[in-house]
Amino acid sequence: MTARILGIETSCDETAIGVVEDGRRILANVVASSSQFHAAYGGVVPEIAARVHVEVIWQVLQEALTAAQLSVEQLDAIAVTHGPGLPGALLVGLAFAKGLALALDRPLIGIDHLAAHLYAGSMTDEALEPPYVGLVVSGGHTLLCVAHPQQRFEVLGETKDDAVGEAFDKVARLLGLGYPGGPVIDRLSDEGRADAIPFSRSHAKDGFDFSFSGLKTAVYQYVTKQVEGSRVKGEGDTLDPRPSTLDRQQVVDIAASFQEAAVDILLTKTLRACQRTGLKRLVIGGGVAANRRLRQRLLEAGQSRGLQVVCPPPALCVDNGAMVAGVAFEQLQAGARAPLSLAIDPNRCLN
Ligand code: KG4
Ligand code: ZN
Repeated sequence: MTARILGIETSCDETAIGVVEDGRRILANVVASSSQFHAAYGGVVPEIAARVHVEVIWQVLQEALTAAQLSVEQLDAIAVTHGPGLPGALLVGLAFAKGLALALDRPLIGIDHLAAHLYAGSMTDEALEPPYVGLVVSGGHTLLCVAHPQQRFEVLGETKDDAVGEAFDKVARLLGLGYPGGPVIDRLSDEGRADAIPFSRSHAKDGFDFSFSGLKTAVYQYVTKQVEGSRVKGEGDTLDPRPSTLDRQQVVDIAASFQEAAVDILLTKTLRACQRTGLKRLVIGGGVAANRRLRQRLLEAGQSRGLQVVCPPPALCVDNGAMVAGVAFEQLQAGARAPLSLAIDPNRCLN
């Protein structure tokens, strides 16, 4: 029987609701981002994200239902991200989902945000079957895993410090490019030379763990050296290198060189994971998976090594409700039902 599932995603700064039929057919995928309210702070402010979710979630639901041409009564289940993510932001989506499930008398299904990111691969390639290597690259996570059947995951490695999306955002902030920085660096890199500055690639020794703070610091040190007369207060959030004194060519060269180094780090570990596990399928997910250079390099490497690389379309890489509704289908079929006491789980990490 056909199952139409509503997927609610509020783990960070996107209020997103999607409707998906039978785990694959996207009927609606509406995303409202509060990023403009965070831009002045250079990163997501949790209280603002939670407040905006409250303000817009009803409207986002109406838009999703209109796009899907369905009424709430025609929904078969309510799926919601309950972790990982910002506690206040997760609470809004979870409370909303519980209210809907209770009022409509429909099953409530709790979803892991990272599993949802990887499931975007199955919505992209319907023939995709586990096991495969999964790379999740977002603002909060950088993680390599093996995805087994029935939503079981074996984590191979994670970042030891910054997530790669966080590094993109911090470098963008350092260069005065605003928030979120990933898409801007992606765009500007087209104009820059990727080999202009040989930023060091930290590979966090062997194994599958990542590290991006060394790269971030290398960019920081390079920028402060370039900026005449800059008075630097400190590393990270208090950084004040007056990037306005960098000319445009310098900015795009730094952006392209940073992006190339970040992609190199991701590529090295990911290809190593494919080689060591002997798996010939790779799925990428999360906001940074929208990065054009990362996609291009992975697809090229896949071609030369006989690997199948699944890169979901950008709209399914960034946070969205369709991936939440999609991944819930298998769970619904398996009889999974969350109790109304389902709690947020801000630190969960697959499984
Ligand atoms: O998965 P996501 O939408 O939210 C989290 O779960 O964190 O990922 C957001 C991250 C941000 O750091 C953003 O800068 C980055 O993904 N991002 C990108 C691109 N689009 C989004 N990074 C690099 N290139 C992009 N095109
Ligand atoms: Zn995400």
